[in-house]
Amino acid sequence: MDTDFIPDETNGRLLRDAFSKFASGVTVVTAMSEEGPVGITANSFSSLSIDPPLVIWSPSVGSRRFPYFENAEYFAIHVLAADQEEICFDFAKSPFAFEALEPEFNAQNVPLLKGCLARFECRKHAVHPGGDHVIVVGQIERVSMQDGAALAFFSGQFRALDPN
Ligand SMILES: Cc1cc2nc3c(=O)[nH]c(=O)nc-3n(C[C@H](O)[C@H](O)[C@H](O)COP(=O)(O)O)c2cc1C
Repeated sequence: MDTDFIPDETNGRLLRDAFSKFASGVTVVTAMSEEGPVGITANSFSSLSIDPPLVIWSPSVGSRRFPYFENAEYFAIHVLAADQEEICFDFAKSPFAFEALEPEFNAQNVPLLKGCLARFECRKHAVHPGGDHVIVVGQIERVSMQDGAALAFFSGQFRALDPN
């Protein structure tokens, strides 16, 4: 190991780097707010439970868009395909980046994006404290999926991960 440290308030950057060694996919979480449809790029998504069907993700408490997601009774998690890098960047910058996307809306008025590898339409099941984030547990009410290459995030870089 080249780097070894005790995490404290002075070395958050290093801890972030260590977290980035965990290769993940990338998702966009969407919800309806009083200001209209909102979204956020998030790689804190994880599957949690098959029975009951549950997933988790973690919004940052300090984020300006936290109130939208903390209060959302319904939301959708979109697992991005390799050709959706622009969507990833757009929702990292702004919660309102729906212009070119023409979202559909489900029965609970949650904006749904097309072209993702998987989409989980959820109802809030629980919210747990998690330091400077919270852990949102979603009960999955509907799933859609299709084949294709994934958008992967590793060590601060985006890559295409082909299934073949
Ligand atoms: C690859 C990637 C993954 C991210 N994952 C999360 C996440 O899991 N939770 C979160 O709160 N923000 C995450 N973000 C940050 C948000 O997408 C967004 O950039 C942030 O909320 C912007 O701050 P603001 O809401 O204060 O404008 C991620 C950003 C990127 C690029």
